[in-house]
Amino acid sequence: MREGGLVAFPTETVYGLGANALDAEAVARIYDAKGRPARNPVIVHVVSVAQAKGLVTEWPDAAEKLAQAFWPGPLTLILKKKPLIPDIVTAGGSTVAIRMPDHPVARALIEAAGAPIAAPSANRSEQLSSTTAEHVLKGLSGRVDLILDGGPTPGGLESTVVDVTTKPPVIRRPGLLSQEDLSEVTPVTAAATVDVGALLSPGTMTRHYAPRIPLIVVSSLSEGLNANYAYLVYGEGFPEESDRMIVLPADSKGYAAGLYHALHRLEESGAEKIIVLCPPSGEGWDAVQDRLKRASA
Ligand code: TXA
Ligand code: MG
Repeated sequence: MREGGLVAFPTETVYGLGANALDAEAVARIYDAKGRPARNPVIVHVVSVAQAKGLVTEWPDAAEKLAQAFWPGPLTLILKKKPLIPDIVTAGGSTVAIRMPDHPVARALIEAAGAPIAAPSANRSEQLSSTTAEHVLKGLSGRVDLILDGGPTPGGLESTVVDVTTKPPVIRRPGLLSQEDLSEVTPVTAAATVDVGALLSPGTMTRHYAPRIPLIVVSSLSEGLNANYAYLVYGEGFPEESDRMIVLPADSKGYAAGLYHALHRLEESGAEKIIVLCPPSGEGWDAVQDRLKRASA
């Protein structure tokens, strides 16, 4: 990383594809490797609040409260950037997204690199995020210098992105921390309903987080299952799991933890399409609902 290389690494959410955030050429390699549009900014990962503060011009009260409560953890804060952050990191914008991950490998890597690490999820643009080193290899083989294999990531879904440059702060991308979690510390507005084309948080555009075969969300399953399809369901009362049938837990945390892993398996099953039984909505389910909406777009 000190020489400008790319290293994929585990975090508590999903695997990241990292480069030195202060090295514009290295960050450009991330965009190349992912096939990521230049208009989509990346998250900068730090190991301390002091390191975060060194990258921004303002540290609002809400940032202090949220960081105290949820860092290290699956929370990304959008703040006003200092000029030392290259434009490519922020897609030319005046704000930067910063997160302190809670994973020993991620923390050790940032410390060893001696610099903040810019890292989007370690997958080709628009495709499923990676929750194992094998997933990273599947999407980015030959495009990354090193993969640190830390086993499956525990959270399984991305961080919650919160813009703290506004009052009250606004959720720009739902993630592992729910609005209810955040609001216990400071009032936070929910993500605006999907605004396609508005580039407030560009990773929230229509098709994203998607498997390579069509994915369809249904509210109930018909009696006979189609042998050409693969199924993702949750809860009790389903046939035994197989290559074409995965049963996720009925609680939102358990479901989130298994979602990408299940979709990776089903996209490789040889099925024509993936049928997903729509999970519940409501408290704790925002991020899962968001990802399924985009995966089916
Ligand atoms: O859990 C995670 O957040 C993972 C791990 C690796 O940290 N990272 C991740 O990065 O999901 P990525 O690039 O796949 O998603 C970053 C999201 C996108 O929706 C992007 O638009 C938004 O954060 N974002 C980044 N910088 C931003 C900024 N300055 N303003 C608004 N949104 C920003
Ligand atoms: Mg991503």
